[in-house]
Amino acid sequence: MKIDFANLQYQHSLYKEEIEEAILKVARNCNFIMGNEVQELEKSLEEFTGAKYAVTCSNGTDALLLAMMALDIKPGDEVITTPFTFIATAETIAFLGATPVFVDIDEKTYNIDPNKIEEKITSKTKAIIPVSLYGQPADIDALEQLKIKHSKLKIIIDGAQSFGSTYNGKTDSNLGDISTTSFFPAKPLGCYGDGGAVFTNDEELANKMKSLRLHGQSKRYHHKYIGMGGRLDTIQAAVLNVKLQYYSKDLALRQEVAKKYNSAFKIKHSKLVLPFVEEGRTSAWAQYSIRVKNRDELQEKLKEVGIPTAVHYPMPLHLQECFLYLGYKKGDFPISEVVSQEIMSLPMNPYVTDEEIEYIIGNL
Ligand SMILES: Cc1ncc(COP(=O)(O)O)c(C=O)c1O
Repeated sequence: MKIDFANLQYQHSLYKEEIEEAILKVARNCNFIMGNEVQELEKSLEEFTGAKYAVTCSNGTDALLLAMMALDIKPGDEVITTPFTFIATAETIAFLGATPVFVDIDEKTYNIDPNKIEEKITSKTKAIIPVSLYGQPADIDALEQLKIKHSKLKIIIDGAQSFGSTYNGKTDSNLGDISTTSFFPAKPLGCYGDGGAVFTNDEELANKMKSLRLHGQSKRYHHKYIGMGGRLDTIQAAVLNVKLQYYSKDLALRQEVAKKYNSAFKIKHSKLVLPFVEEGRTSAWAQYSIRVKNRDELQEKLKEVGIPTAVHYPMPLHLQECFLYLGYKKGDFPISEVVSQEIMSLPMNPYVTDEEIEYIIGNL
C-alpha cells in the first residue's frame, strides 16, 4: 500500500469541474488582482466564521504581519508566544523589530501554557500570540483574563492550522482581537498556491488591515500607512469559493479520521501519547500527531512500507540559529524540547480510509 499524506490530488478530483471552471473564469475575465471573487470570498468567510470582518491576504505569514502592524507593534515592543510552532509565528514578531518572548507549552495540548505567561509580562509587552497548534485553539479564556489585568495587552490568534476549529462554540477566527489563518495547500482549507486571511470584530482594525495589504493606501496612490503588497490573488479566491462550500463536510470527515485513529490506538498501543483535545474545544485536525520515544527509527521503517510521516516541529524556536541573539539556551523550555524530540504526524486528510488506518496501525 502507498498512502498519501495530504491527498490533495484526490481532493482535486472531487471538485475538479467546479474548481477548473472557476479558475478559467478568472483567466477569461483577466481580473487577476482584487477581482469580485475576493470580495465574495470575504463575505463567505465572515458567514462561516461568525467574525464581523474577514480580510484576505497573500499568506498566513503576511496575515500575522498585517495583524501586528494594525496593532502598531514596533521595535522595542515584546510579544509573547510559544517556541513550539512554525517559524512564521515568531519570525514576523522579529521582522517588525519587536522581541519574541517565549513561554513553554502545555504538555497535553501542546498550546501555550497560560499559567506561565504572567511572569513574562513586562511594561513592554504589547501582545500575546497563542497558536492553535495542529488545529486546536489554546486556552483563550485564560488569556482574556490576563487581558483584563493588563489592559494594554492584545491577543492575536495564529490560526494558520485551525480554520473551522471551535472554542466554546465559537470559531477560533472569531476570538481574540485579531485572528489569522493560512490557506497554504496542505492546510485544512487550502488554496492552489499561497493564501491567508485575518479576522476581527473591530471595524477600525479591519479597515486598517485592508489598507495595509494595499501598501497602506487610503485611495489610489495616496498612502496613509507604511504597508505591504499583501493581496490574495483572484484565482486563489476563486478556488477557495468552491472549496469553502464543501468545507464543513471536509471538517467532519477529518473529525471521523481522528476518531478512528484514536479508537484503533487505544486498543493496540496503550503506551503511545495520543492527541488530546480539551473539553469545549474542537480541532480542525490539520495534523494527527502522536508521541513516540523512537521516532527516527519508526519514521524510517514506516517509509519503507509506504506510510509517510512528518515532524511538526523537530526544533523549538528558542534553539533555532536565527534566534540565538535572544539568549535562550537548551533547558529553558523543557516541554517544548521533549515534545519536539518525540512528536510525529501520521497521514491526515478527510479521505484516509479504514483500510489505510488498519494498515498504518498494524505496521506501527
Ligand atoms: C502556525 C503557523 N503559523 C503561520 C504559518 C504561515 O502560513 P503561510 O505558510 O501561509 O505563510 C504556518 C504555515 O505553515 C503555520 O503553521
